[in-house]
Amino acid sequence: TGAFTYDPGFTSTASCESSLTYIDGDEGVLLHRGYPIGQLAEHSSFMEVSYLLLNGELPSSEELDEFSYTISRHTMLHEQLATFYRGFRRDAHPMAIMCGVVGALSAFYHDSTDIADPQQRKIASHRLIAKMPTIAAMAYKYSVGQPFLYPDNSLSYTGNFLRMTFGVPAEPYEVNPVVERAMDRIFILHADHEQNASTSTVRLAGSSGANPFACIAAGIACLWGPAHGGANEAALNMLKEIGTPDKIPHYIDRAKDKNDPFRLMGFGHRVYKNYDPRATVMQKTVREVFEALKVNDPLFETALQLEEIALNDPYFIEKKLFPNVDFYSGIILSAIGFPTTMFTALFALARTVGWVAQWNEMISDPGQKIGRPRQLYTGPTERDYVTVDKR
Ligand code: CMC
Repeated sequence: TGAFTYDPGFTSTASCESSLTYIDGDEGVLLHRGYPIGQLAEHSSFMEVSYLLLNGELPSSEELDEFSYTISRHTMLHEQLATFYRGFRRDAHPMAIMCGVVGALSAFYHDSTDIADPQQRKIASHRLIAKMPTIAAMAYKYSVGQPFLYPDNSLSYTGNFLRMTFGVPAEPYEVNPVVERAMDRIFILHADHEQNASTSTVRLAGSSGANPFACIAAGIACLWGPAHGGANEAALNMLKEIGTPDKIPHYIDRAKDKNDPFRLMGFGHRVYKNYDPRATVMQKTVREVFEALKVNDPLFETALQLEEIALNDPYFIEKKLFPNVDFYSGIILSAIGFPTTMFTALFALARTVGWVAQWNEMISDPGQKIGRPRQLYTGPTERDYVTVDKR
């Protein structure tokens, strides 16, 4: 009953107004505040894109310096949080740790939970963006049994993250500039993507007035699923399973078989019915990283051939299924040295800027209401309770 539109999966419902990100899925266009993702990935930095998403305009060089400095002031975690990590099993999935630790931040920053105050929202946003690399790096260090490294604010946002992840106290760590640039670009490519499932989750959680750290933890939980951010881990695992190009046709057949739940991971998108522009940049970055690190992962060849075969197959053509951002990212991350279980944690790190920017936009919208979808009820009509002895 009621005049509701039934729209499972929200395929045709706009849940909000937003001026952050524009996607034209048919044309394969992605703009942040009007700037094409390809240009940002090529010329910008993750700090700059973060500023852009949060503030609406690209920063001047003074504004960028000030912003980067402010973020660097918040990179450390409260010492008590190191104890919190030790409560997890060593083999805990980094995304499980991220959910827990980010949610736990709300217990540390009582001063930034008055969300009606724009200044406090700003501090909470800066804290989240600044601490995510530290949190993700610590999740990795914990899993390999190495000591946590404190941030080194003389390094860039991304350089600092690489050092906290791969450095050890026993030796100086030198950031490879090509790897740093590739990593920064991967962060740019993941920074925001309008009302995807995790961003909608952050908005829905935040719409009740919940504190921002808990809202971002909710976003992380949603991102983890293989249909969303978890696809980067699933895509590389799939490529490993396929192994050599001669096995591709078998997996293509499986992907097309409606009785087989298997899907080509890193393929298809709710919005893009054309090549995901992020996948284009990602593919180019694979080559740069391989060259810089002098590696040549044969899975890249498998991925390229898989893409070509799929793009020429009537099933994929008809359903407009193209590689998405997750198809090539894993090959780069693996070459850099990340285990597959860290892939989605890196996505979460980068998407945090989009989440907080969207959350801020929502809270400052005077028309904002609690998110409260309706339903089409399909259960029994009213009936009388029967005591257990009569059932
Ligand atoms: N392999 C094989 N068939 C597919 C695939 C795929 N990867 N993706 C979609 N299809 C088919 C699907 O079976 C359906 O066929 P039919 O119409 O015969 O039932 C049709 O294409 C439409 O798919 P859908 O599931 O109804 O579309 P959706 O918009 O609900 O789902 C998606 C989008 C991304 C969840 C889906 O394409 C998918 O599961 N892809 C694999 C996982 C993946 O790579 N996810 C990452 C998305 S991009 C990163 C991010 O932002 O999260």
